[in-house]
Amino acid sequence: MAEILVNLDKVSVSFAGRVIFSGLSWEIQAGQRVGLVGPNGAGKSTLLKLIAQELSPDEGNTFRLSGLTWGRLAQEPVMPEGETVLSAAMTGVPAIAAIEQTLANLEAQMGDPAVYEQPAVLARVLAAHEKALAHYDLQDGPRYASRVKDVLSRLGFDQSQWATPVK
Ligand SMILES: Nc1ncnc2c1ncn2[C@@H]1O[C@H](COP(=O)(O)OP(=O)(O)O)[C@@H](O)[C@H]1O
Ligand SMILES: [Mg+2]
Repeated sequence: MAEILVNLDKVSVSFAGRVIFSGLSWEIQAGQRVGLVGPNGAGKSTLLKLIAQELSPDEGNTFRLSGLTWGRLAQEPVMPEGETVLSAAMTGVPAIAAIEQTLANLEAQMGDPAVYEQPAVLARVLAAHEKALAHYDLQDGPRYASRVKDVLSRLGFDQSQWATPVK
């Protein structure tokens, strides 16, 4: 039996007293490709926001397999101010940016006399750094920038456009 990735159990959503849907149940299994079709205003985007857990149902429950990663392209994307095409694309995997920040913080601590003059404290920082680095490798962090550039190129963004404000 296929693994259930997403399950909506009798969910209801209303906006300002207007019922968009109610008692809606839906299950998505691993390997399925699903198209969601309906007239404008039917509630397709609302349903996707429920699955993404960006919105809670008024009634019923939403379930997502733990550890499932989920990407959603907003129908009306808000492009971040001050980002370039490349820097915005680099935000695609926030977990990698978070590990890079952790590594930078730990490296800054290693250069602090309050840390490196205290063997026990330094050992703790080194151990944390080693752990973060292993995690970074696992996420393919060292190749991340080149993967992002490769994807941009394949999407038709020429290198000359990477510094263009994404807005
Ligand atoms: N945050 C909100 N507040 C009030 N009404 C909303 C909100 N989001 C969606 N709606 C309304 O809910 C209905 C379904 O919207 P939506 O899910 O965007 O439809 P679809 O994506 O199928 O076109 C529409 O009538 C829309 O105006
Ligand atoms: Mg929509």
